Amino acid sequence: MATTFNLYTTLYTIVSLSLLILISFPSLATPHTTCNSTLHPSFCTSTLPSDFSGTIHDHSRFFLRQSLSTTKTFLQLISSYLKDPSSLPASTLLALQDCQVLAQLNNDFLSNTLQTISYTDILSPLQVYDFQTMLSAILTNQQTCLDGLHEVTPYPSVTTGLLSPLSDGTKLYSISLSLFTHGWVGDEANRERQLTQKNIDNVNVKEKVVVNPYGSGNFTSINDAVAAAPNNTGTNNGYFVIYVVAGIYNEYVSIAKSKQNLMIIGEGINRTIITGNRSVVDGWTTFNSATFAVVGKGFVAVNITFSQHCWIDQAPSCCC
Ligand SMILES: *[C@@H]1O[C@H](CO)[C@@H](O)[C@H](O)[C@H]1NC(C)=O
Ligand SMILES: *[C@@H]1O[C@H](CO)[C@@H](O)[C@H](O)[C@H]1NC(C)=O
Ligand SMILES: *[C@@H]1O[C@H](CO)[C@@H](O)[C@H](O)[C@H]1NC(C)=O
Ligand SMILES: *[C@@H]1O[C@H](CO)[C@@H](O)[C@H](O)[C@H]1NC(C)=O
Ligand SMILES: *[C@@H]1O[C@H](CO)[C@@H](O)[C@H](O)[C@H]1NC(C)=O
Ligand SMILES: *[C@@H]1O[C@H](CO)[C@@H](O)[C@H](O)[C@H]1NC(C)=O
Repeated sequence: MATTFNLYTTLYTIVSLSLLILISFPSLATPHTTCNSTLHPSFCTSTLPSDFSGTIHDHSRFFLRQSLSTTKTFLQLISSYLKDPSSLPASTLLALQDCQVLAQLNNDFLSNTLQTISYTDILSPLQVYDFQTMLSAILTNQQTCLDGLHEVTPYPSVTTGLLSPLSDGTKLYSISLSLFTHGWVGDEANRERQLTQKNIDNVNVKEKVVVNPYGSGNFTSINDAVAAAPNNTGTNNGYFVIYVVAGIYNEYVSIAKSKQNLMIIGEGINRTIITGNRSVVDGWTTFNSATFAVVGKGFVAVNITFSQHCWIDQAPSCCC
């Protein structure tokens, strides 16, 4: 009798231990910890049910589903505005149609990502790279839609009704990208360390900073990092090196004359991409619309792609 009892106890212990090991790896995260790492912590905590403890992968899936559902709602809203096109000025109509195409793309990207990661935590490096690119593209598409609406004059009244869902969408997309990166790309601090240890032999480095839009670097935008570089250092006092982690940077970077000896290093061509935000259409000259305007002396950019902002009539996708 005693032996049987011991056997069962032992089995029970083994099973419990195995379960514990299974459950505790990867580790559970509270909504608070998860949301802390995003650009919109309070919006994130108010969206994620407070009793939803899960892995970072579960939280990531949750926000991807929210993103998809917001995108579908937004598409329905646009469709309802477009039901009666004759009631809209032509410029508003065009802007809304652009937003519709962009939101449709976002819908496809999100569905595509969810289809794969709904049932697995394991992705190949190529899949991780593809999904990260798609999720970055979603943010860019959203910004393009918003820019398009803002450019319409006189300001279209329908825009007012779209701003709140667009803003919620942008936050959800940003959180989704951030959590996806945390869950699947891995330790960002480690990636940043690897990036900053890349070989820049024979270069006199004065200071290094990291730009990471999703959290842990010194700055979240390239412009902020450029602004922080010291003024008028002369060209012999070592480089101010700005490491820019992979991602799509929707910003118009311009480097003033006072910024000398600037070196900007990305994670690779087609991985760190700077897209501008102004087109010749707005009345900016071609020089001004160059995404990256360099005036400073001693400027060096490595492993970065510069791309003009893509307007929907030119290329209905993320990055030309
Ligand atoms: C969230 O971040 C704040 C400030 O960065 C920190 O003080 C707090 O301990 C963090 N909370 C968690 C749960 O990580
Ligand atoms: C640029 O990228 C290439 C290929 O990924 C890499 O071998 C090289 O070290 C990078 N250069 C710098 C300065 O990071
Ligand atoms: C950038 O961040 C690193 C690591 O957190 C820190 O050691 C360094 O002082 C920061 N540099 C600047 C210019 O803020
Ligand atoms: C550089 O000069 C600009 C314009 O004079 C000033 O606004 C900025 O604070 C200066 N930046 C630094 C890092 O000193
Ligand atoms: C894009 O341009 C508009 C004005 O044309 C500006 O208000 C906005 O801040 C810019 N956005 C970025 C990300 O540079
Ligand atoms: C970057 O992307 C462009 C367009 O998709 C492609 O033609 C080019 O070969 C890519 N370059 C690298 C280094 O992957």
